[in-house]
Order: sequence, then C-alpha cells, then structure tokens
Amino acid sequence: MNKHIIAGLIMAGSLFGCSDVTTSESQVEKAVEPLEQHIESGTDYHSFANPDEMIVRHIDLDISADFDQKQLYGTATLTFERVKENAHQLILDTRELDIKQVSVNDQSVDFSIGEEEPELGQALNIEVGTSANQVTIEYATSPDASGVQWLTPTQTAGKQHPFLFTQAQAVHARSFIPLQDTPQVRVTYAATIRTPTELLAVMSAANDPETERDGVYNFNMPQPIPSYLIALAIGDLEFKAMGQRTGVYSEPAILDAAAEEFADTEAMLEVTEKTYGDYSWDRYDLLILPPSFPFGGMENPRLSFITPTVIAGDKSLVALIAHELAHSWSGNTVTNATWRDLWLNEGFTTYLTYRIMEMIYGNDRYNMEAVLGYQDLQADIESLPENDQIMAIDLRGRNADDVFSNIPYEKGALFLREIEQKVGRDNFDQFLLDYFAHFAFQSITTDQFIDYLNQTLIAKFPQQLSKERIHQWIFEPGIPQGAPVPVSDAFEKVDQARTAWLAGDLQATDIETDNWTVHEWLYFLNNMPEVLTAAQLDALDSSFQLTQSRNNEIAHSWLMIAVANEYKPAYDRLYTYLVSIGRNKLVKPLYRELAKTPEGKAFAKRAFEEAKPGYHPLTVKANEDFFE
Ligand code: BES
Ligand code: ZN
Repeated sequence: MNKHIIAGLIMAGSLFGCSDVTTSESQVEKAVEPLEQHIESGTDYHSFANPDEMIVRHIDLDISADFDQKQLYGTATLTFERVKENAHQLILDTRELDIKQVSVNDQSVDFSIGEEEPELGQALNIEVGTSANQVTIEYATSPDASGVQWLTPTQTAGKQHPFLFTQAQAVHARSFIPLQDTPQVRVTYAATIRTPTELLAVMSAANDPETERDGVYNFNMPQPIPSYLIALAIGDLEFKAMGQRTGVYSEPAILDAAAEEFADTEAMLEVTEKTYGDYSWDRYDLLILPPSFPFGGMENPRLSFITPTVIAGDKSLVALIAHELAHSWSGNTVTNATWRDLWLNEGFTTYLTYRIMEMIYGNDRYNMEAVLGYQDLQADIESLPENDQIMAIDLRGRNADDVFSNIPYEKGALFLREIEQKVGRDNFDQFLLDYFAHFAFQSITTDQFIDYLNQTLIAKFPQQLSKERIHQWIFEPGIPQGAPVPVSDAFEKVDQARTAWLAGDLQATDIETDNWTVHEWLYFLNNMPEVLTAAQLDALDSSFQLTQSRNNEIAHSWLMIAVANEYKPAYDRLYTYLVSIGRNKLVKPLYRELAKTPEGKAFAKRAFEEAKPGYHPLTVKANEDFFE
C-alpha cells in the first residue's frame, strides 16, 4: 500500500511507455515533469492501514509507564470487523515501536514490519486469518516517541515528580499505540494505566475526579473517536471543579489560578449547547500541562489539554478554551476524513470560537478577535506558496503537520462567515445544528461537505449562494474578492493613536491606554512599522513596561519588535522567554526572526541549546533547522 509514494512519482514517461522517437531536449524536460495526478477524495495518504479491508472498532489498552526507561509498555487488543470477506491481513501504523509479540486467541501469529518512511513510520502487517476478530499486540514505545513527552521533576511546576503527556494529532498516535492511525477510522477504547503510586493518570475518556490514587487507573471512552484524539497524561495532578460539568486538572501549584482563569468554561459550554445542540461527551474538563506543551491547546475529548501560558490573570486569552471546547462539536463529533480535509475541523472550530466569545464577552471583543485573526490570515496569504493557500490542500508526499496554517483556521472561518452573512445568522445556525447532528460521530471529506451544502443551504438559498463561489473558496488560493473584512471600532482608535505617535504628534505617555484590553495592545504592537528608532523603542518600553509584560501574547508581540530592531534591553527577557516556554506558536517566530542575522542566530542557538532538553520533540523539530 504505497499510494502516498506512487502518487508523487508517476512520471509522464512511465505512463506513456517507451517511445522510439528521438526526443529533443525540451521534450526530455517535459517528459520528466510529474503528471498532475488526481487526488482521491477520502484516501488517507498518511496511513499504511487497510480499513477498506478490515476496520478496527475498539481498542483495549493495558499499559505501564516506566519513567526511568522513558517507555510505555504493555498490550493493545484490537477488535476489528472484516469489510472485505476473506480478508486475512490487518495492516496497522507504527512508529519506532518495539513489537514483542502478536497473538490471536492466545496463539502467536505471523507479522512483519515494513520499511520505514520518514513521514509515516512503519506498517505492521499481521496475519489474522479469515475468522478471528481480535488481535493482541505486546509492545513498548521508544524513549524518543514523537507523540510522547517525558518530563523530569525539574521541568514541572512542583519540581518533585516526573510528568508524561501524549500528543497524537496529526499522526503521532502510532508512536505510542499500534493502530489504524487515520482519522477516518473511529474507535471506542478502554484502558488500564499503571503508574508510580504517587501519580495520577488522566485520559481523553471518562475520568473520575474521586478516583483513589493507587497507581492503577481505568478508563472508558464509549463514543467512537479518531485515533488522533487518544490521549494520556500522568503526573502529580489534582482536580478542582469549576461548574457542574466542568473542572480542571493540574499540578497543585497552579490549580487555583487555573480554575479562576477558566471559570467561564461552564457558561461557554451552556451557550454552545444552546446554539449548536447538546454536548455529546458528558463532562468537559481541562488539563493544564507544564509550559513545554507544544501547542496552545489540544481538543482531546472530555479533557482538553491546555498550555499554562494562557493563564494571564485576567481571562484575556480564554478564546483558546472556547476553541478547544468548540471542537467537541466541530472536530470531535464531526471530523475530517483525511488531513487534507482539516479545514472542516479547524475552520468550523475557529468560526464557532468567535461566536462563543461573542456570546460570553460581547460584540466588541468578537470584532477585535476577528480582526486579529484576519490579520494572521493576511500574513499567511503573503508568505505561503499558492498551493498552500488552498483549503483542500494537496498533502501527498508531505508531512501531515504541514496542513496547519491560518488557511484551514482563519480562511475556513471567513468562508463560513461569508455564508452566514449571505443567508442570515439564524438560518446559518440552524444549518450548523443540523450538520452536526447529520454527521455525528463520522469523519467526512470535503466532497461530502460540498454535497451536503448543495442539498441544504444552496438548494434553499440559490440567489445568495452559488456552487462556483463555494468552489473558489475551497479549491483556489488567496482570499476571494468580496469576502467579508472584519472591522473593530476599538481598533480604529488604536490606529489613530499609533499614527499620531509615529508622526510625533502624541507622546507615548499621552496615549489613552487605561481601558485597553490585551487585544488592543496586540493590535497596537502587531501593526507597528518594521523599523522603529531607538528613541521610539525606549519611549514605548519606558511608558508601558512592555519588556516586563506578564502577558505571554503581549510579550511575544513586543519581543518580535525588539528582535527586528535589535532592542537589546529586552534580550534578557527574550532569553528567559525562549527557555521557559515550549509552545511553538510563541517561540518559532522569534527564532525565525533572530536567525536572520549572525549575531541573532548565535543568541538564538544558545537559548535553543539550553531549552532543547525541555522542549517537546515537535518544537525541537520545528526549530532546529534555523541553526543548521
Ligand atoms: N488541534 C489543534 C492543536 C494542534 C495543532 C495539534 C497542530 C496538532 C497540530 C488545536 O485545536 C488548536 O488549534 N490549537 C491552537 C489554539 C487555537 C486557539 C487556534 C494552538 O494550539 O495554538
Ligand atoms: Zn483547533
């Protein structure tokens, strides 16, 4: 099953066979151009698995965590169904797994491990015969598993106990469980996790906040989920309730601060249910990770994983929670069938995030966040090659993680905002509610979405919507002409202040910033000209103590300015920032900017080398090329 390689490699010459006509030079050149091959909708080019022959429906895990060896080991028992009669081989995805034994009905069976492919790992081919429907795999993970991070006690808040967390999206579940690692396969799962007795394990499953801390923890996930949502964390964790259905797990040192910061989670859950239909997953809890967590958040069902870098003390960065919660509808309930279809997941979620934020915090904040998102999108449109500006991106032969940019997120959300504006908010909300119910617990392709849209909204509003326009949004680069442009009154005032200050007509200390929220600060800083004078940098810093900002987003925007202008008074803070935060979105742009000059690169390299042992493998991988 080498579909992912074949797709990229078929050459004109080999397709047309050999010709005995002497070819001119230009013909030779033409002959080696790859032919544009049709992308097969629904084909997952990032998995070896064969769900079209046998499909796994349930996984039972019995796993121990060895913090000394940095290994998870134990068994995975997969229950499967035959899609093709007489199919006898089950093909799974793995990456750096040590497969010790494979058995069917307690009898070991033959298996083989395929050749390693850098973006995919290795296939595990198992001879299961034509009648069995269960297979047990005994295995251990590699200490370098791409989806597992092992933290030493010093890398945690409490400094006393080690910590472990997994991050499976997009294709890293295979580095800690042998399975069909494609989002089009959904499984229920049950797990027994064995840990040192003083630690608590939590999973993307039913967690019992009252469970006895005895080193053996049982979990059950009764709804079918794609493999990228299987998640585990182990550490010195405590629980605090925030509402009836919501609570937070974290290390004791930050538990109260987290519960306060995210106190609006229950209200978010309620308004989302009212608008988009009942919450399908029972409880919704948050797990706050140590600062090396490589993302802002990860929507693991029933238990979103969250970076501590958003605990700002003023709820200013809680759009992240709205986002991960929104995935419970757009994503976890209806997800993408392949990574090319990710925009169905992240685009819908980004649209829902804005709507949830508006319902909880009002229209001004909605407008500000929408403008900031739009600016992120514009930046990507300017910097990404045209092919990567297409929502239904061609990912063949590439790393699955390449799909993550502002295109699926913000372009996806803007597309939905246009439809909303054309058919009216009430009609669009009704459409979304129906859509989530219609495709509940399915993984769908872009084509399935388009068919559904044709049969529903386009049929109902033929004057307002057209198939051509929809096609343009999904399959063409750029932002379509006439797309909505978010605006914010509050930001217009910020623009005026910035312009007057830059022109020398207004002192920094005279800018009326008393009522500014974090959003106004971000907009103020993100839209500064590329070059500022030393006097201007000094004025900004001494008036607003930006180098000292405790808000990690504001600090990020300021440090970007500092690096671009080599504002040295901020470099101590910059160094501390880089070595204490592992969230890639916050550190990567700084490394990239620093690497533009030899001196900056040397500074960045020092910070990177110091930080590296504490960074997640994904953050290391995303940044190490800057220092080659
Ligand atoms: N599913 C993503 C996290 C993710 C991104 C996993 C890339 C694997 C690869 C999550 O829902 C997300 O989008 N998080 C964002 C925050 C959000 C507010 C845009 C993040 O982590 O920054
Ligand atoms: Zn997301």
